[in-house]
Amino acid sequence: MKIAVIGGTGLIGSQVVTDLIAAGHEAVPHSKSTGVDVISGQGLDQAVAGADVVVNLTNSPTFDEASPAFFQTSMDNLLAAAHKGGVGHFVILSIVGVDRVPELDYYKAKALQEQILAAGPIPYSIVRATQFMEFMDAVMSWTADGETVRLPATPIQPIAAKDVADAVAQVAAGAPLNGIRNIAGPEIFPLDELGRITLSHKGDNRTVATDPTAGMFAAVKGDVLTDEHAHLAPTRYTDWLS
Ligand SMILES: NC(=O)c1ccc[n+]([C@@H]2O[C@H](COP(=O)([O-])OP(=O)(O)OC[C@H]3O[C@@H](n4cnc5c(N)ncnc54)[C@H](OP(=O)(O)O)[C@@H]3O)[C@@H](O)[C@H]2O)c1
Repeated sequence: MKIAVIGGTGLIGSQVVTDLIAAGHEAVPHSKSTGVDVISGQGLDQAVAGADVVVNLTNSPTFDEASPAFFQTSMDNLLAAAHKGGVGHFVILSIVGVDRVPELDYYKAKALQEQILAAGPIPYSIVRATQFMEFMDAVMSWTADGETVRLPATPIQPIAAKDVADAVAQVAAGAPLNGIRNIAGPEIFPLDELGRITLSHKGDNRTVATDPTAGMFAAVKGDVLTDEHAHLAPTRYTDWLS
């Protein structure tokens, strides 16, 4: 199959392209750096022309109140180009529990992206993943000061980017789900504990203080970001750290 991977130079996109090519598909990465812009629309028609499937793995440059506009405009432009090009399957990567954290602009933006896709003219699949293991350093950097990292005890089920890419590639090569598939890592940790495991593994002497008000994940109520019934990926966090 011919598969256009928009955002195909990113963390997930680049690995999805590798997986699809290894499985015998003609997968082509597109992004701003290859001259395709989902916001201005530049190069989009050519990027999706002749594609059986479009996988959209672009991301907003910010996680704040500007992010809904990014996903609205990019999806409007991509769906119009894909519809014109006769694309038969459109895949996006979203977040487990995304519609259950309305306090977060970025989650609102990703829920909006899902709604635009589901209401659009193209058969689709939504893969929802839990938080990427690769994201942990950034999460800790938001609330680090001096010798302390402050983190809430929000339950998190981290998944390796490689496992996410494998799942997205598998969905992209299959029939449209016209629905959602949840994928998650094999273990659930309170975020503060995940921070302690991470620092200890790196030989970092800073301590983690449990703070229910710290950082973006403080807005999350209960265990909405986890799903023990999701398709569970193989990679465990400590194995990934190693
Ligand atoms: N972080 C998590 O824990 C998590 C969990 C579940 C789902 N997700 C979702 O996973 C998806 C992929 O994330 P990622 O970490 O792989 O993203 P990433 O590494 O930041 O890559 C983003 C990609 O989007 C491209 N891009 C950005 N703006 C663009 C534009 N205006 N036009 C064309 N391309 C543009 C970038 O291209 P250039 O480099 O050329 O600019 C890059 O290829 C996101 O939609 C995110 O919401 C994330």
